[in-house]
Amino acid sequence: MVENKREKTLFTREEISTRVKELGKELSQVYKDKDLVIISLLRGSFIFAADLVRELSIPVEVDFITTSSYGHAEESSGNVKIVHDLRTNIEGKDVLIVDDIMDSGFTLEKVIEHLQNKNPNSVEVCVMLDKPSRRKVNLSPNYIGFSIPDVFIVGYGLNYGDHYRNIPYIFTFE
Ligand code: IMP
Ligand code: MG
Repeated sequence: MVENKREKTLFTREEISTRVKELGKELSQVYKDKDLVIISLLRGSFIFAADLVRELSIPVEVDFITTSSYGHAEESSGNVKIVHDLRTNIEGKDVLIVDDIMDSGFTLEKVIEHLQNKNPNSVEVCVMLDKPSRRKVNLSPNYIGFSIPDVFIVGYGLNYGDHYRNIPYIFTFE
């Protein structure tokens, strides 16, 4: 745990909830005549994905992928591995990958490539947070909750060390 540091809230529980509802509405329109499969990347997106799927008014399948990246724990390297794969057959279906944050973009680049090999009809990406200034690959999410500057954030599924994923708002340390 981080000691002697003050929290600064970036997005409150209410702000997050409002934005997730908006995204849910938008995605329900976009995918209304499609065969939607939400793929949540573990572990960071479990809270966001759980909230988002409950704001969809259309049929949806939900599955999960776990990735790992070697290197510093809070930052992904280019060496992203799929450590737990889908169970759903996504051939011909419309995939929406849901993640907590796009930072370098290495994770999502790897996951998109991995899923394209399974011949879905389409693959799009929705992230709660985007840090475009940190990007190392040529990729941007199709749907974004909030775009943020280069600050390390925690809460709402995002961790620091082994903690803070359960905190219901998004904050940084001052
Ligand atoms: P990328 O592969 O660099 O885009 O990194 C994606 C992963 O790094 C995210 O899914 C998070 O798990 C982690 N990450 C990136 N930035 C932050 C942050 O500010 N706080 C906590 N985790 C982060
Ligand atoms: Mg992650």
